[in-house]
Amino acid sequence: MKLNIAVFFGGESVEHEVSVISAHQAIDALDHEKYNVIPVYVAKDRKMYCSDLLLDLTNYKDIPALLHKCTQVDLVQEDNKVVIHPVHTGLFHRKDLFTVDVAIPVMHGTNGEDGTIQGFFEMLKVPYAGCDLIAAAVGQDKVLQKHTLENSGLPVTPWFWVYGEELETKQDEIIEKVHGIGYPVIIKPACTGSSVGISIAHSDAEYIACFENARQYDAKIITEKVIKPMRELNCSVLGDTFRAEASVLEEVYHAADNELLDFKDKYEGGSKSSKTGSSGSKGMASTTRNVNPDLPDGKTDEIRKLALETFRVLGSSGVCRIDFMMDADTNKVYVNEINTIPGSLAFYLWTASGVSFPKLMDRLVELALDRERRRSRMTFSYDTNLLSTYSAPAGTKASKLG
Ligand SMILES: Nc1ncnc2c1ncn2[C@@H]1O[C@H](COP(=O)(O)OP(=O)(O)O)[C@@H](O)[C@H]1O
Ligand SMILES: [Mg+2]
Repeated sequence: MKLNIAVFFGGESVEHEVSVISAHQAIDALDHEKYNVIPVYVAKDRKMYCSDLLLDLTNYKDIPALLHKCTQVDLVQEDNKVVIHPVHTGLFHRKDLFTVDVAIPVMHGTNGEDGTIQGFFEMLKVPYAGCDLIAAAVGQDKVLQKHTLENSGLPVTPWFWVYGEELETKQDEIIEKVHGIGYPVIIKPACTGSSVGISIAHSDAEYIACFENARQYDAKIITEKVIKPMRELNCSVLGDTFRAEASVLEEVYHAADNELLDFKDKYEGGSKSSKTGSSGSKGMASTTRNVNPDLPDGKTDEIRKLALETFRVLGSSGVCRIDFMMDADTNKVYVNEINTIPGSLAFYLWTASGVSFPKLMDRLVELALDRERRRSRMTFSYDTNLLSTYSAPAGTKASKLG
């Protein structure tokens, strides 16, 4: 029997449109002989919609008009199954199609990659692809992530973090810490993505301005040493904490006038001619990149090992992309961050590693079902009710109620 796979995409995130592209690539790659694929679009107001119209990217030019023709849905538990239900009943005819066997979230950034939708799937008890709630949340929060990496002995750049409002009470202390690192430094909100709110400061005055900017996006602010000259190298890992493999590497480039890889570089293709991607709306697959870059001896192996260890210590599963920075003078490698739902699901790195996109999607489904099987053997609650013999102490509110 065919498995019903619901692919969730969109979401309230700055990477909403990128997610639409990544999800369409994933839906095309899923083997439609094996799976019934149900697209579930999460609008920016978090309402969910289903319709075959969602399968055509040209329909997204006018989203309100598109949603007007789609069916607003909800996920509910029914007879030990999770079903996609129309919010306004009477609109679906082929009801059997809407049982969800596996959910695949293809949502980047806040509300999708940060544990939010994973928590929703956990509550429903529906198997889902990719990192679980905790790994997704730690992967999204740069502060928690750096602590975990550093404490696990993985190389990270010199850094510190404070709450945004501490700039008012501890400015001298903060500036002293910045001087300890030395300019230039890079300032990042803890939980955004796509370089939003990130900037580089070369002086105290610039630092304060960058910090104030970053504060608009998150309560926690990270300050890091800038690695320069720097090469950005990424590696994807596929699997779970029991068994995982690392892909070939890619080197990514940003426009020469940009000090950091920004949203435009990432999704619209940089100014350099792309070696493997092409420009246009192709998501991460269109970034200016070089797959299998030439690196000094031993560096490719070193980075692949670090990628596997990063994936492991963060408790990841599914397909992730781990981003590295290499100091181009000393060749020292630093782990920058994990992306637990990478743009285009990093399929282009797997294709270059001998794993086709359809095979990658099969693996994601298998990993989701494996995790569910393991979890069903774990103990989460006891079949006793401690409250069955409870009697409220005399004079308490509960006894008065009872
Ligand atoms: N320590 C650093 N030194 C130099 N450049 C950096 C450093 N950290 C980040 N960058 C640049 O900023 C970009 C965005 O930072 P990153 O931490 O990856 O945030 P995001 O989650 O928004 O992708 C990176 O791709 C890189 O180009
Ligand atoms: Mg990044």
